[in-house]
This record gives sequence, C-alpha cells and structure tokens, in this order.
Amino acid sequence: MSDEPTITQESVDAAADDALAAIAAATSTAELKAARAAHTGEASALARLNAQLRNVPNDQKAALGKLVGQARGRVGQALAAREEALAEAEAAAQLEAERIDITAVAPRARVGARHPVSLLQEEIADLFVGMGWEIAEGPELEHEWFNFDALNFDLDHPARQMQDTFFVDPVERHLVLRTHTSPVQVRSMLEREVPIYVLCPGRVYRTDEFDATHLPAFVQFEGLVVDKGISMANLKGTLDHVARQLFGPEAKTRFRTNYFPFTEPSAELDLWHPTFKGGARWIEWGGCGMVNPNVLRAAGIDPEVYSGFAFGMGVERALMFRSDVQDMRDMAEGDVRFSEQFGMVV
Ligand code: PHE
Repeated sequence: MSDEPTITQESVDAAADDALAAIAAATSTAELKAARAAHTGEASALARLNAQLRNVPNDQKAALGKLVGQARGRVGQALAAREEALAEAEAAAQLEAERIDITAVAPRARVGARHPVSLLQEEIADLFVGMGWEIAEGPELEHEWFNFDALNFDLDHPARQMQDTFFVDPVERHLVLRTHTSPVQVRSMLEREVPIYVLCPGRVYRTDEFDATHLPAFVQFEGLVVDKGISMANLKGTLDHVARQLFGPEAKTRFRTNYFPFTEPSAELDLWHPTFKGGARWIEWGGCGMVNPNVLRAAGIDPEVYSGFAFGMGVERALMFRSDVQDMRDMAEGDVRFSEQFGMVV
C-alpha cells in the first residue's frame, strides 16, 4: 500500500495548512461547503491520515493520534468560525439589500401652477360674462385685411411697416401675426347680429424688444359694443366699472385724446391706481374710442342706425399694476417658481 500517506508532523501540518488556507479563502457559505468536503471528507488528506492510525505500531498510536486529532480539531474550529462569520455577513448583506426606508417621504408628482397671466385673463373674462357680454375669439395668424384694412388703416400706415408687424412668408398671402385684438372686432361684427357686446381676449405680436417693459408676444383684451344709442358715456362708465373691479373701489379711468384709425373720437386710456406700489398715480393702460363709421360700414353695419365703442388693454400690464412684478420678462420665461408665487389667484 505504497500510496497510503505516512503520519508525520510534516504531513499532518501540510494537510492542516491546506485545509486552513482553503477555509480562509472561502468567501461564501457555498465555497466553504466545498472546502469542507475537500478537506474533511473521506478522500481528504486529513481523513486519510486519520485512517492510517489503524496501521501504526501501538507504541506510537497515542502520539500520532494526538497529532492528527489536534490537526482535525484546528480545522474543525476554523470551519465553524468561518461559517459563522460568512453566515453573519450574508444575512447582513441580505438585510441591506431588502432594506425599506419607511421614514422616506414618498415621491409626489409636482403639481405645477397656473400662469398668473392666464388666471388674470380668466378673471377679466368672468367680469365681462357677469355683465352679460360674450367672449369672442379670432386667429393669431391673421389676414392683413382684418388686422389693418377693415380697421381703416391706410396702406402706408406706419404700423404696417416691418418694424412693428411680423409679416409671414410668402408676403403675397397677406398673413400677419396679429398686432392687436382689434381684428376680432371686425370678425365679431361679421359673424354676429347687432346688438353686439363682446370681449375678445388673446395673444398679439409685435416686433418689439424683449425687455423689462416690452414683450414681442403679449395678451390683450378687447371690448366691443355695437348697439343703438351707444355713446362715449357708456364707454367711460364701463371702463370705470372694470377698473374698480380689477384694482379696487377707488380706481377710475381718464381719457386723453389720441388717434386710432378704427375709432373716432379716440382716446388713450389712463388708470388711476389707488394702491400702486410707490403711491397712487395715473398709469397709461390702453386705447379706446367710438367705433369709426368706416369700420361699421366695412362690417356691413349701418352707422346711421348703430354706434359702438371699443377698447383694448394689456393683460401683462394689468398684472404688473396689481402685483409687484417689476420685469415683464418674468411673465414670459415660463419658470414655474414664478407662477407658484401666485398660487391659484392673482
Ligand atoms: N388696438 C389698439 C392697440 O393695440 C387699442 C385699441 C383698441 C384702441 C380698441 C381703440 C379701440 O393699441
């Protein structure tokens, strides 16, 4: 039996050292299980040395038995210690992997905020609907005829020039981005029967600078009344009412003479703002006047029978007056943090 191992200090130490190295190298309980089988199983070097004890002479049995027994004991202890450590580490890793932080705030979708210009537009629309007026709308891409001709603008009126109006290619189609909401006056008169009481809110475009007090795209609201016996007094009374509703009971309006091709007489509209930041004062707000008979005629309405008034104001300017917004660009940039400051009311 020449392949049987011989029990010596060296052979026992070598077998034990191999076993201890394999145990130390095991990084999981599965690897440790394999190491246990390889180094303590029946075919292992230590088991085979142990089996040899049967064959040693009696006088050496005690000493060699102790040698092998101690080696097996060391390996057994190392296995038990490593097993405990690996099991603990694996349990800890599993706990960490399955960790649920019950203190974390559940993620919520951001609600966002309505834009204050939209909110104010709605408030203004509600105000007029409350007076029995209707809301009328027209396209932002408008025909030059509605934007200018039907409103009695001369062919060479400066507003038609490139510095004010966005003309749309090809120019022969005569399409413009509407420069005001007044074309909706004409559309309303063509589409509706008199008497007409309409509010026309909407976005308008001008080739203006983008700065603290100008936006190339902004929102206006246009009012149009056509009925029998309508006078400038009705216009003034209506605008004073609107001013009080939007800016408080002491607000009022004043007219300064001005020229618009589509109204005659025409006036610049100033607002007395009692709670304006920096003190009560007059501020320019829009334009107004009695509908020019030429405009009534262009819309097929007899100016001998009917008369009307019209006005047009800026919504962003109204928002500036009412709140402390200093820079109009804040209203155009679409930063939700700006809108959130207004909540759901302006
Ligand atoms: N459309 C004019 C503007 O935008 C305002 C206006 C409207 C003037 C109605 C008179 C009547 O400047």
